[in-house]
Amino acid sequence: MKYKKIFTKITNELATFKDNGNVANYIPELSTINPNKFGIHLTTINDKHFNFGDANEKFSIQSISKVLSLAMAYNLEGEELWKRVDVEPSGTPFNSLIQLETDMGIPRNPLINAGALVISDILVSHFKNPKEEFIAFVRKISGISTIDYCSRIVESEKSTGYRNTALINLMKSFGNIKNDIDIVMDFYFNLCSIEMTCKELSQTFLFLATYGISPYTEERVLSKSKSKRINAIMQLCGFYDEAGEFSFKVGLPGKSGVGGGIVAIYPNKYCIAVWSPRLNKKGNSSKGIQFLELFTTETQTSIF
Ligand code: DON
Repeated sequence: MKYKKIFTKITNELATFKDNGNVANYIPELSTINPNKFGIHLTTINDKHFNFGDANEKFSIQSISKVLSLAMAYNLEGEELWKRVDVEPSGTPFNSLIQLETDMGIPRNPLINAGALVISDILVSHFKNPKEEFIAFVRKISGISTIDYCSRIVESEKSTGYRNTALINLMKSFGNIKNDIDIVMDFYFNLCSIEMTCKELSQTFLFLATYGISPYTEERVLSKSKSKRINAIMQLCGFYDEAGEFSFKVGLPGKSGVGGGIVAIYPNKYCIAVWSPRLNKKGNSSKGIQFLELFTTETQTSIF
């Protein structure tokens, strides 16, 4: 497939696309990003690479990393995990509190903030040094030893993390957070602060296109069943209250972050990462979604 030519063709088509989105500003450090950045990187399961634009520039992957913490916790806990977090689409914004009270502190899924906080609590329970263990896991599955947290983003998010503090306190009141709140929050903010380029992101998530095997170590990261299930969770929950729209337009399992990144998986074929920092009203990259819609249609690589 001539991916590079297709990237150019679609980007030319998008030149007339009026993007009214804004960069995330509720985390002060994210508001400093140039809103016009645009990068694409596609990695095939045979490790062939195709890129466009700012594909080699680092950005904050934010909530995209919630899929990786979920993979790690699922391996550790097995099916017990689902006693503490559900697998249903929430239909609510990523940082919503509304369902948690009636759901007795059990988040609807592991990709909304509440669910990712429970997953963070589980990793904090398992490891003496959870931050070190987690970044070692990410480096191993990607084959990239330089991937790291960003302390500026951590501090910036800590200074304004009122909603996340509310979510974790509510869940603690229901007994669904076992550890000290400050320790779990510190892990969660670090998780969200990881920086990657589009190339690194597409390499890191390639194991979900290969039914759980890291192409870089050839080791199994997840069982076939767990890999299939995590793709299913991304399909249903990866874009919060826009998950239906993403399925409708793009038709791939994927995950977004408020840094403007999106990663999407076409099982058995490729993983693609797109970065465009202007977000729509649901907190997802507006040009990123627009690009992926045209891309999966043109290449006939939607799962539907
Ligand atoms: O907790 C937060 O609000 C951010 N660190 C992550 C939010 C995020 O990326 C939501 N995704 N679209």
